Amino acid sequence: MSQNNVTRAVVIGHGHYLPERVVENEEFTKTLDTSHEWIVSRSGIERRHFAAEGETTSNLASHAARAALANAGLSAEDLDAIVVATSTPDLTFPSVGTMVQDQIGATKAYAFDVQAVCAGFVFALANANALIVSGQAKRVMVIGAETFSRIMDWTDRGTCVLFGDGAGALILEAQPGAGTSDDRGILSTDLNSDGRHRDLLYVDGGVSTTGTAGYLRMQGNQVFRHAVEKLAATAETALAKAGLSGDKVDWIVPHQANIRIIQGTAKKLGLPMENVIVTVQDHGNTSAASIPLALSVGAAEGKLKRGDLVVTEAIGGGLAWGAVVLRW
Ligand code: ACO
Repeated sequence: MSQNNVTRAVVIGHGHYLPERVVENEEFTKTLDTSHEWIVSRSGIERRHFAAEGETTSNLASHAARAALANAGLSAEDLDAIVVATSTPDLTFPSVGTMVQDQIGATKAYAFDVQAVCAGFVFALANANALIVSGQAKRVMVIGAETFSRIMDWTDRGTCVLFGDGAGALILEAQPGAGTSDDRGILSTDLNSDGRHRDLLYVDGGVSTTGTAGYLRMQGNQVFRHAVEKLAATAETALAKAGLSGDKVDWIVPHQANIRIIQGTAKKLGLPMENVIVTVQDHGNTSAASIPLALSVGAAEGKLKRGDLVVTEAIGGGLAWGAVVLRW
């Protein structure tokens, strides 16, 4: 096989943070016509974490970032860039990225946010990869962080039981590779958007419309229909770009929205659930935070091992969806 020296963005650290408050399904039955059985059977979710009053997205992100730095054995000053995927920033501006930079003391890093809703972390990873392979950064902290509890309509049982708060972080570092799919690091990315589906999943407020943050609105069953088909397709495209097939995959680490979407996508990809990292039962849908949370939990539990082939995939409002293939 011909080999070319290339730069790869390799994961050298991971971390996550979940707010202290755990909300079990049962709690929703006090105020809504719903049940633990309905929520579990339709979504797989049993509990989720909610941020405390005054606890912001940047606070969650900074906790996850510090955990990732400790895991990598680095200090914040070793970072060149911070990319945060979020749709629930502390403020309209400045970015959560710059707030994290300040909170962790990453004085040498430039920082910005990426917004692609639940697909945000996949888009952020692809952007961080591009910064590294183009030589604009050597070490990038990539964070997914959300406080979706702040945009829930607590009277809408079709949405408010599904989401949770949290943050996860990876540190990527430029390392030389041989240019083959045996390299560690990000091997391929595939990003997609289709803005015609805006009304399937959106927030009904914003700076230049209502001047408010708004509440999440979702046609859940319509989103579901798009999800399995598009997620399997983007994962297959990303694998093909890396010159790999599904049978080489050690772990699918999907966006954690719904166990039935996760199962349907694995089935379409021909992979058993033993090869899928699942955290949706404990975290709910944490939007852009769900993949780094699942990666960090999977690594902490000893499932993800150095050299494993990992496929992450996600879809969210926009619609926006994509996949990243990487060797851990
Ligand atoms: N408890 C009890 N009943 C409920 C609840 C609830 N919490 N929520 C909805 N229902 C009812 C509905 O009102 C409906 O009743 P009706 O038939 O009398 O009208 C019935 O359950 C079925 O509703 P559906 O929406 O068709 O239920 P479905 O089986 O599709 O499950 C769900 C709903 C869980 C929302 C599912 O569609 C889903 O998970 N969709 C995808 C969500 C997702 O992945 N979003 C993308 C990422 S999110 C992001 O990007 C921010």
